[in-house]
Amino acid sequence: MIRTICVVLLWVYSSLSCAAGAGGPALLDANINLSNKVSLQRGARLFVNYCLSCHSAEYMRYSRMAADLELSEDAVKSNMMFTTEKIGETMRVAMAPEDAAKWMGAIPPDLSVIARAKGADYIFSFLNGFYSDSSRSTGVNNVYYPGTAMPHILWELQGEQELASESDDEHGGHGPALHPVSAGTMSVSEYQNATRDLVAFMVYVGEPAKLVRYRIGFWVITFLLILLLATYLLKREYWKDVH
Ligand code: HEC
Repeated sequence: MIRTICVVLLWVYSSLSCAAGAGGPALLDANINLSNKVSLQRGARLFVNYCLSCHSAEYMRYSRMAADLELSEDAVKSNMMFTTEKIGETMRVAMAPEDAAKWMGAIPPDLSVIARAKGADYIFSFLNGFYSDSSRSTGVNNVYYPGTAMPHILWELQGEQELASESDDEHGGHGPALHPVSAGTMSVSEYQNATRDLVAFMVYVGEPAKLVRYRIGFWVITFLLILLLATYLLKREYWKDVH
């Protein structure tokens, strides 16, 4: 019996450690906060300014985003819409996919559900994982997606990073270490916060109903608490004469 348990435990343990090791370097923790509207607004602004030139978010309408993120439609129209005039439009991209394939060798995927497909931590890691690599036509490579065709769009904000050689990898196997070589317009923590906002926005775009659920959830719980109080008072009232 004990032997069987040991074998099962060993099997579970080994399959878990295989699963952890199979997906490449350990991901960074995105640690997003979906209830932080300001973070989502900053993420939306970064997205339209830096990503929408190549990536669409075909399932997302500007009007819906304005309502969910508590932005005025006028503000969205004048500051965030570059490919259309209509607030009811979805987030399309101006570039034709064939051109993208010709210029970059890969078509930038639609990012509507990328966070659901790949996970928030992966996108956060990907955006923080670019490092200089002169052998690549884009001049960069990525720890989490080796050989990616995507250039490091946010390099001006982050600055340049370099892959540490094996010997000075202090992380002890927890993913490769990247060292800043030149500073960007943001500090390290500012860049991490900016990419965190961006990932939060991607997660929201992947499932806009989540925000509605949070809102409704709050009122449902409040209602239940009030109901609980009322029920308790009623119970006290009924049992008053029994004791
Ligand atoms: C110059 C065009 C361009 C811009 C701008 C751009 N990307 Fe990309 N992106 C690409 C291309 C091309 C790919 C496909 C890469 C590949 O498969 O090698 C890609 C892929 C991706 C992927 C998928 C990676 C994967 O593992 O499949 C994510 C996530 C992504 N981009 C996020 C972003 C975000 C966020 C921004 C804005 C900060 C952005 N991209 C801006 C060109 C761009």
